Amino acid sequence: MASRKTQQPPAILILAAGRGQRMKSGRVKLLHNLAGAPMVCHVARIAARLEPSFLAAVVGNQADDVTSALSTEPGLDGAGLKFATQERQLGTAHAVLQAEPLLARAGVRKGVLLILNGDIPLIRVSTLKALLRHHRGSGASATVLTTKVDDPSGYGRVLRDAHGDLVSIVEDRDANASQKRISEINAGLYCADLTVLFDALRRTRKANAQGEHYLPDLFPILRKQGLRVEGYLHPDQDEVLGVNDRGELARASGILYRRKAEELMEAGVTIVDPGCTYIDPEVRVGRDSTIGPLARLEGRTTVGAGCSIGALAHITDSTIGDDVLVRDMCVVAGSTVGPGAKIGPFAHLRPGTVLESGVHIGNFVEVKKSRVGRGSKANHLAYLGDADIGEGCNVGAGTITCNYDGVHKHPTTLEDGVFIGSDTQLVAPVKVGRGAYIGAGSTITKDVPAGALALSRAQQRTIEGWAERRRQEREAGEPESPKRRKA
Ligand code: UD1
Ligand code: CA
Repeated sequence: MASRKTQQPPAILILAAGRGQRMKSGRVKLLHNLAGAPMVCHVARIAARLEPSFLAAVVGNQADDVTSALSTEPGLDGAGLKFATQERQLGTAHAVLQAEPLLARAGVRKGVLLILNGDIPLIRVSTLKALLRHHRGSGASATVLTTKVDDPSGYGRVLRDAHGDLVSIVEDRDANASQKRISEINAGLYCADLTVLFDALRRTRKANAQGEHYLPDLFPILRKQGLRVEGYLHPDQDEVLGVNDRGELARASGILYRRKAEELMEAGVTIVDPGCTYIDPEVRVGRDSTIGPLARLEGRTTVGAGCSIGALAHITDSTIGDDVLVRDMCVVAGSTVGPGAKIGPFAHLRPGTVLESGVHIGNFVEVKKSRVGRGSKANHLAYLGDADIGEGCNVGAGTITCNYDGVHKHPTTLEDGVFIGSDTQLVAPVKVGRGAYIGAGSTITKDVPAGALALSRAQQRTIEGWAERRRQEREAGEPESPKRRKA
């Protein structure tokens, strides 16, 4: 059983002040999108799941944007994230020092500080817990998570003595040829005892290739003080991938999507081709649902049980009930879809759409900010915007709600059981009463009372034999009379 000590939640600090030169971008590296969220938000989310006693990030480059990304991240609600500013990026040791006053103000002066580089988005909660356990169990003053990688270039290499004890970490740019061959690297995740951390960091020197105060220099400094330091070797090299350039960003995103697909398959979801399915980490999918190839499920999306999500469907921030059929190539954003609904192919549900149970939205139908009541159908080529549609309505092919007058948006209301004939324009604001019918091809500009039939199309004129007479005239070389042409 874990001792009381190992159960104490740690204080956590995320380093997020760097620029990320290797991205070759106008935007700081940590804001680059990875599986639906800025990279740094993945790290912060994982940190929050450890329920830390204190959680802060050090920001610097594009500080306002990084702060706002972290503050608005839904996964961090209530985590009480605080911010320290590093005005000039003088290195990772200097970055940690910027949080000292913040910790002091919060009354956090002892215990363990877990320090996380902001660019390690694949790290798992279980691994951080194992690092904490190792740190506390060994009684070390500082512990670094290490791993052995196939290609250690770019990382700090871990130097150990003849007993296998960690001595120091040498940065790639400071390493000599034999050190460069070491495959054990610093993952950029650390535990440190707060009573010794800051004094040791103040002793770091910038006599290195980058002229920076290196956080890993903490280890030899503590060792010289006779304190114990540890390197905790973790077996999974994928998990500690540091994202520094666009190639690593793509690799990280591939790993995250693969991981999510595996998690869902284990929970009873069929993923037709896990190699090309893009499901964000926070998305939930119920059992016996099937996800087709190239589907993207993003943000705060929930899919119920027994659903079928077709190929190339793109669903963002939406709630899909049980037994819903989303056919191929649908785009769904900010919408709620009730159980048993059928959508698509090629349907577009825009934010604010609510489809109640059993609704059918067919091909090339766009729905925006509208409610469609239980069992209603709009099966072909329609635009329904700012509409409130009751239960059991039938909206014919080509129906358009003319909701915009160039200045304002107006509502359309269809009460229960309304039948709208094909190719109808409903010029909003307009209301069609319960059970009313609209004849095909109508332009409806005035409210229609319950139970009525409204039609607004012109009378049809039929001229018998017209086509045959025209053919004969043509063959005879006669010019068409203006009168005839009109007819
Ligand atoms: C760092 C480690 C290296 C390790 C690697 C793991 C140092 C000196 N080196 O190298 O040993 O193998 O991570 O991925 O720590 N940051 C600040 N302020 C600064 C500098 C950096 O907040 O002044 C932040 C960055 O935003 C980033 C993190 O610290 O989130 C790491 O910085 P980065 O420049 O990526 O360090 P690496 O060169 O990758
Ligand atoms: Ca890095």
